[in-house]
Amino acid sequence: MIEIAIDGTAASGKGTLAKKLAKKYGFPHLDTGLLYRKVAFELINQKTFNLPNLEVISCNIAKKISFYELEGIKLRSEKTAKLASSIASFPKLRKILNQKQIEFANENKEKFGGCILDGRDIGTVILPRANFKFFINASVEVRAKRRLLEKNISFLHEKDEKCMLQSLIDDIIKRDNLDSNRLASPLVPAKDAHIIDTSLINPEKLLSIVSNIIEGSEHSE
Ligand code: CDP
Repeated sequence: MIEIAIDGTAASGKGTLAKKLAKKYGFPHLDTGLLYRKVAFELINQKTFNLPNLEVISCNIAKKISFYELEGIKLRSEKTAKLASSIASFPKLRKILNQKQIEFANENKEKFGGCILDGRDIGTVILPRANFKFFINASVEVRAKRRLLEKNISFLHEKDEKCMLQSLIDDIIKRDNLDSNRLASPLVPAKDAHIIDTSLINPEKLLSIVSNIIEGSEHSE
């Protein structure tokens, strides 16, 4: 049974890679960031994100999350991402969401022979014995440009586009810092992860590099 763990920084290309690998190998994929985003989204929706007992409220939301409600463009906003990153430092919340991720992995390994999870702590905490671990990164400018392209906005003036790009750069730097410096499961590559910088390579090239690693190595059952 194959476990593939993909971690990396925001907008580094890890999600696209995970989806492509899922299609290629027929393994179910979980974008674990969506779990944190879903909790953040509900906090914003309920206007409870300013309350002092945020960890308890977040845990109560997390307990009720189902994998089937994780799709949706609404979860993708930068506002949701920022709050997701800040609540992701709550150890009790992580414990609940970790359990869900482990259940997903176990269920799908049984049913489909493998699973792919992407996030920040997959190779270090969720699937420490994964057969393959990848840590994806890219320069902050490249990542911000990718996020801007995903938004598919047509700008009337170049200065508006530059301004939006700069604000995305600032947001990504802040989120990288929060994610890397928190005490609970910080964003760090697992010791046995393949570290890949995607600043100068496109998704197809990344898929081919990763597939070569997967297909070129023995794996333990
Ligand atoms: O798509 P992007 O890389 O921008 O973010 P995401 O994967 O959707 O994750 C949103 C936030 O959730 C991150 O900034 C992390 O703070 C948090 N997260 C986490 O702590 N652990 C994970 N396994 C996945 C996400």
